[in-house]
Amino acid sequence: MCGICSAIGNFNEIFDVIERLRKLEYRGYDSSGIAYKENNNLEVVKSVGQIANLEKRIGRNLSSQIVIGHTRWATHGKVSEENAHPHMSANGEFALVHNGIIENYEDLKKIFLSDVCLNSQTDTEVFVNLIARQKGPVINKLIEACNLVKGSFAVAMLEKNSNKIYLAKRKSPLMVAQNENGCMAASDLSVFVGKFEKCYIMEDDEFAVMSEKNIVFFDKSGKKIKKNAVLINNFDFCDENLNEEYFMLKEIKEQAIVLKRTYFKYFSENTLSEAEISKIKKYKSFHFIACGTAYHSGLMGARYIQQFCKKECKVSIASEFRYDNNVLNKNCLYVFVSQSGETADTIACANLIKEKGFDVMCVTNVPYCSLNKLADIILPTFAGREVAVASTKAYVAQVFTLLILAIKLSKNLELQESLKKFVLSFDILQLDDALLKFLYQFNNIFYIGREQDYVASLEGALKMKEIAYINCIGLAGGELKHGTLALIDENSLVIAISTQKKLKEKMESNIQEVKARGGKILLVSNFEHSVEVDHFLQLPEFEEFLMPIVSITALQLMAFHYAVELGYNPDKPRNLAKSVTVE
Ligand code: F6R
Repeated sequence: MCGICSAIGNFNEIFDVIERLRKLEYRGYDSSGIAYKENNNLEVVKSVGQIANLEKRIGRNLSSQIVIGHTRWATHGKVSEENAHPHMSANGEFALVHNGIIENYEDLKKIFLSDVCLNSQTDTEVFVNLIARQKGPVINKLIEACNLVKGSFAVAMLEKNSNKIYLAKRKSPLMVAQNENGCMAASDLSVFVGKFEKCYIMEDDEFAVMSEKNIVFFDKSGKKIKKNAVLINNFDFCDENLNEEYFMLKEIKEQAIVLKRTYFKYFSENTLSEAEISKIKKYKSFHFIACGTAYHSGLMGARYIQQFCKKECKVSIASEFRYDNNVLNKNCLYVFVSQSGETADTIACANLIKEKGFDVMCVTNVPYCSLNKLADIILPTFAGREVAVASTKAYVAQVFTLLILAIKLSKNLELQESLKKFVLSFDILQLDDALLKFLYQFNNIFYIGREQDYVASLEGALKMKEIAYINCIGLAGGELKHGTLALIDENSLVIAISTQKKLKEKMESNIQEVKARGGKILLVSNFEHSVEVDHFLQLPEFEEFLMPIVSITALQLMAFHYAVELGYNPDKPRNLAKSVTVE
């Protein structure tokens, strides 16, 4: 994971880089650091923890027009100042920030650097020393070293004697932008918003040299190449005007806007063309592949396509699919769902499908992401930039976009009308204090539901685990009695999600099974049940197929409030990062 922001210009770039690194904290926040040029020396400042700690260490008086910056999610080596980036070469000539993993770093160390004393446990320190060992001009050294390296990297590098920033990219994202005051490189487009209008997206095995006035690109043979700039669409990144202490709450509340925007994008602006719809219709089946929350969106997408288009669907976890003996099929469309479009396991599966000559559709939230480059068809989600590590509005945008796909494929105008009514009236519900007080009594929580509510139970439990650190399980209501019931006692809370009238009695039986073992029940539903429960959260009533969007909002809010109640920062859960670029 990790995030890079580096700048060269005619102002003091240090504070701009630090400010923009904050936008990348979602990529990791174990430690951060900068390297900058002062006279002809390279200086490094690092700090463990969030960027605020780095800022304190830097003070207000530092100034430099060439800076590379980094925020880290630890892969090699524990969280410590020595392991924080930037890393210097032992000869003091190079400073490097790196996002990615050098898979053969142990071999490289043995073969090329046995005489070098390394100060950290990182692959990056090996990388920078490997660069220092190469011959020729700086850009050639960088290219040569990258040729020796296996794995993924986006790097920004300073060299002691040149007023330039050197860049290289393979498998990890890197983009560069320029205006009349200088140039910037970053891991994510959102960093450029407000400062640049256009940028260049670097491709794998491309290199660049940024100086104050220009950017020169090279291919892996060292030949100069020309690249076309792309426009940065601020709309994709705008933070709606909701002032909340936490991004997560702001993003949950934004869901009403996201739904309207998505509807507008697909039905008024026709984001998906008729030609694309006809192309998608030709596939006999769909196979969704994704990780984490995006996998749950895939489960919902499969349900919608089966329900409304009567086509066969499969759903796989990317890290499993990759090593399975999958029987691939040219009549199947492989659908990759990813908020970031940078998740390593998801990308690896998409690569595998492409290599075998099959078609790929990508449902992504970040324009120009790595996954989109592999796509035959792109289905963008319009959640806008999601900052909190736990995905909320992006999940809702994915589910809604896949629902729209199913409706467009089925050409069902009645369903389209229902969607329109829904987006116009959907509002975020509020959880009352009594419910929250009841919830806070438990640290042994089970989520149950059937069919679409089963997906909600998986996603609700994931949210609770990741931000409130409560060990909980999401499971199919019918599965309780096949094992998990053994865990239920009077200290257990079962959150029963029940939004499908056809399954009311079945859910009531599951609730009774829990009650008989002394377990407590929080029922989340849009209709009354005949069984008595400990707490009832009444959801607003919408058509059944829309209820997964309504119920998940309630579950997201429960997790959010519980995390805050326990004193945790829900935006930055421990051990996690938003963009998982390691396999
Ligand atoms: C959980 C969460 C993760 C992501 C997963 C995939 O709240 O956000 O489970 O869904 O890491 O990430 P993307 O969607 O970027 O591929």
